[in-house]
Amino acid sequence: MKVLVIGSGAREHALVRALTLDPTVAAVIAAPGNPGTDALALNEPVDATDPAAVVDLARRHEVDLVVVGPEAPLVAGVADALRGAGIRCFGPGAQAARLEGSKAYAKEVMAAAEVPTAMAHVCTDEAQLAEALDAFGAPFVVKDDGLAAGKGVVVTEDREVAMAHGLACLAKGGDARVVIEEFLDGPEASLFCICDGTTVVPLDLAQDFKRIFDGDEGPNTGGMGAYSPLAWAPQGLVDDVVARVAQPVVDEMARRGTPFVGVLYVGLALTSRGPRVIEFNVRFGDPETQSVLARLESPLAVLLAAAADGRLEDHDPLRWSAQSAVTVVVAAEGYPASPVTGVAIDGLEELAADDLAEHVHVLHAGTAHDDEGALVSSGGRVLSVVALGDDLAQARDRAYEAVAEVGLEGGHHRTDIALRAARGEIRA
Ligand code: AMP
Ligand code: GLY
Repeated sequence: MKVLVIGSGAREHALVRALTLDPTVAAVIAAPGNPGTDALALNEPVDATDPAAVVDLARRHEVDLVVVGPEAPLVAGVADALRGAGIRCFGPGAQAARLEGSKAYAKEVMAAAEVPTAMAHVCTDEAQLAEALDAFGAPFVVKDDGLAAGKGVVVTEDREVAMAHGLACLAKGGDARVVIEEFLDGPEASLFCICDGTTVVPLDLAQDFKRIFDGDEGPNTGGMGAYSPLAWAPQGLVDDVVARVAQPVVDEMARRGTPFVGVLYVGLALTSRGPRVIEFNVRFGDPETQSVLARLESPLAVLLAAAADGRLEDHDPLRWSAQSAVTVVVAAEGYPASPVTGVAIDGLEELAADDLAEHVHVLHAGTAHDDEGALVSSGGRVLSVVALGDDLAQARDRAYEAVAEVGLEGGHHRTDIALRAARGEIRA
């Protein structure tokens, strides 16, 4: 198979890596890719949100499968255009992608499918906003209705901060809406469900760390680290979430004539009243994918092609490594507010030659080559360092040992990824 991967982050580097490990894959093209995918695949420039450009690229390379990494191309209709051109694509069409593109739409589908989630009010003006905040009380959960790269949600005890974020969302104008939700407590988990429009195949659970600082302090980010599996998760959780969340949503989307083909990312809070959906995404999560795919032993291209073809029902049960995976994101100085870019990145070649490399790999995200060909940072989340170990403690030790070898002036990372889980401190 020849596979085209759309996107340029560490998630896409993880996808490219897993695809090249699949013996059925002859070649991978990454568009636009990054300096990390360049070592494994052919990088091709593309405007990923231009459906015609992606179709053109897929045709030019006569690919057998397109895997769309990020949400923006899906919301822009890239998967529809590919399928319309007769090209096999793993990723939902624009209508189905609204499960991520509009939080209000996701709530509507969840209500129709009777999926357990937080109670919510959708507000279109200041008066409704104020009323909804007072109805739920603190802690306040305020969500931009539209796509916001993981930064549209504010959870705060401070009513003024909640109000200010809500007003900022509404100030975008047009049909801007803001969603106010009931606060859900309990540990969070992410479950990626591979869907073919009818059948659901869940991957293993992961947990990510959205806040910028240790101890879950500071603003939300696109994700600062992740680990898998979740030894603390209640037995049967995956089956329960498929039965109560993913399958009903896939059935509802099929009933609406907008079948869901791709990853339904179910973000959960494991509350005292049972699992509740916090959010849906319509693609692999970043950085959870880096940890989950490090443990997947089944060939990835075979799985994703089966989903694209509506043949998941016949797919072999997935095989997983018994090891634990920990991913630590190395972020640029100033991330998430205003990342400093163009800073030299050192130590990766030494790391690749080290004994540690047997258990650790480094995935690129915000990296680029400068005019002299040297590797420099080009975005907020620069690298994902992924380590495997016999348990979380060993995987953590290896990941942090590797992170210490990476040179990025002003760079920072969380030091507590998977720490509480490794210590057995998480109770669901
Ligand atoms: P989202 O973009 O919807 O995933 O929200 C980002 C983060 O905000 C989540 O990972 C949670 O940590 C937090 N969050 C979102 N919704 C809620 C909620 N209803 N209750 C508590 N925390 C929430
Ligand atoms: N890990 C969160 C996300 O991918 O949205």
